[in-house]
Amino acid sequence: MDVIICRDDDEVGAYAAAKVAKVAEAAQKVGKNVVIGVATGSSPLATYTALAALIQAGKLDLSQASAFALDEYVGLPAGHPQSYREVIRRTVAEPLGLRPERVHVPDGFAQDLERAARDYETAIRDAGGVDVQILGVGSNGHIGFNEPTSSLSSRTRIKTLTAQTRNDNARFFDSSELVPQHCLTQGLGTIMDARHCVLVASGEGKADAIKAVVEGPVTAMVPGSVLQLHPKATVIVDQRAASKLELIDYYQHMYQNLPDWQRVVLA
Ligand code: GLP
Repeated sequence: MDVIICRDDDEVGAYAAAKVAKVAEAAQKVGKNVVIGVATGSSPLATYTALAALIQAGKLDLSQASAFALDEYVGLPAGHPQSYREVIRRTVAEPLGLRPERVHVPDGFAQDLERAARDYETAIRDAGGVDVQILGVGSNGHIGFNEPTSSLSSRTRIKTLTAQTRNDNARFFDSSELVPQHCLTQGLGTIMDARHCVLVASGEGKADAIKAVVEGPVTAMVPGSVLQLHPKATVIVDQRAASKLELIDYYQHMYQNLPDWQRVVLA
């Protein structure tokens, strides 16, 4: 696992975007349309802003890219402003110029949710799998909506949200009671199939989760810790989110001494 510690959230976004751009360019070089896994939440917003800037500057072209969202609330009708389909449209698809038919979100309003979950797995497979997955992390260590005790090999399925996650996400709704109880989420096994994983986090509120994800034991109690088993996982955090890491000096030293070929070049 690579750990990159940045000055602030903007730099986190710039590094994450550079990483995604590198994967996209490598895919394009072999004539492949890149498949990007996208996350909702505040954490990846700076990444999307930085990606949009690269596109505007003519340094990146995602017009042929596909995107798969990690998750969706159950029961929010089409067009609900807090449905992840809408959030992804507003914060990712439009700013990056993705074609709407290539942007996929689990169908949390389906009559048959189990079938919708299976269909989502099939759609990811049919697209050739996710090349690079952008991830945030919940304050309890969840990734996607895989709450603590999620199977480390789980696939897309229905999950019940914890009270902590519903409270954390209440800021987007008029009250915490309006936050749905259930969701459809890619499983940890689904996320682990992505060829690269890039997790971003900023702020003190994420320091415990980052410590547990990066340096804690691999455990279903901290779902993001499964990334320790991923061969190409990069964790990009600001100083405050990194503040509880035991080996912080090592990560900084390692980054300063990276060979050029491993370095991600910022725009
Ligand atoms: C939600 C999403 C996650 C996201 C998490 C953290 O629960 N399902 O994918 O990582 O929120 O959100 P934020 O980045 O706003 O802290």
